[in-house]
Amino acid sequence: MNVITVTDVTKLYDTRMKKGGVTALDGVSLEVLPAEIFGLLGPNGAGKTTLFKILLGVTELTTGEAFLFGLPPSDPKSRLKVGYLPENHRFPEHLTGIGLLEFAAYLSNVPKSEIDGRVDKMLEIVDMSKWGSMKIKKYSKGMLQRIGLAQAMINDPDCIFLDEPTDGVDPVGKMEIKEVMLRIRDEGKTIFLNSHLLSEVETVADRVAILRQGKVARIGSVDELTSKALQYEIEANFGESLFDIPENIGKIKRISTNKLTVELVDAKKINWIIDMMRRKDIDIISVKPIKITLEQSFMEAVKEEKEWA
Ligand SMILES: Nc1ncnc2c1ncn2[C@@H]1O[C@H](COP(=O)(O)OP(=O)(O)OP(=O)(O)O)[C@@H](O)[C@H]1O
Ligand SMILES: [Mg+2]
Repeated sequence: MNVITVTDVTKLYDTRMKKGGVTALDGVSLEVLPAEIFGLLGPNGAGKTTLFKILLGVTELTTGEAFLFGLPPSDPKSRLKVGYLPENHRFPEHLTGIGLLEFAAYLSNVPKSEIDGRVDKMLEIVDMSKWGSMKIKKYSKGMLQRIGLAQAMINDPDCIFLDEPTDGVDPVGKMEIKEVMLRIRDEGKTIFLNSHLLSEVETVADRVAILRQGKVARIGSVDELTSKALQYEIEANFGESLFDIPENIGKIKRISTNKLTVELVDAKKINWIIDMMRRKDIDIISVKPIKITLEQSFMEAVKEEKEWA
């Protein structure tokens, strides 16, 4: 069963600031599966936080359907096994880290006898054991995000919503947060991550959706989105072999003594290229899809959309 199912969701905010309101989401569909890290990406204002808020019952969708563990957000039971790190959170500053985690445990009905043990374990997971007794007002940005992550996990949730978890955190802190996310995923939990930092999500997410102006511009595994469509790099001992390929197969884009790139008319034509090379007795070393970064993929999605407009 999907952890999250979103079907054709639209959200219109009524606001006096703009006539006709603001369309924050415009026909969004996606699914998040168990034990995956799903990254929701997009520039500021794309609608990422709005989708989080809809799924968590903070705001209501205008049209479409959303389910969390098979239940609609209007059913509080949908949130029993969920943790949430909100964007721009403000934890009560007079509390210590331990105080905040105890409070979060109490709010999410962790049995009294288990609270101390869970608080200790969470502090350890986010590497904050040393700072648990310090007041939150003295925490650095990185420490605030780590304690935020700990409070999101205090009820041992099966799915964790993280809204910009590394916002304002330095590179070492980002790395640590990433490691925590991978560890949680490996425990079989689902992470729904929301970020505008594409390069960062690229290294941690299993699948991503790129939102742009309330629409899904691209969706797929990180691998799919970072493979440049139909372009391959072939490494081989070409020796003296010179060849061209017919137009109905594709075109060779560059050639050196042991490397060439081909752009194919469809993905299956790679077999034709390999067969042809074998007939010519060329030793093939590797055939790899050409990779681009998520950032490039994103920019291409944005460009395509402009061309269609
Ligand atoms: N409560 C609200 N009332 C009116 N408009 C809103 C409200 N919340 C969000 N919006 C608008 O909806 C759109 C989507 O906002 P949202 O916060 O979901 O984007 P986001 O992708 O999370 O952006 P960011 O990366 O800046 O966090 C924006 O145009 C925003 O101004
Ligand atoms: Mg946001």
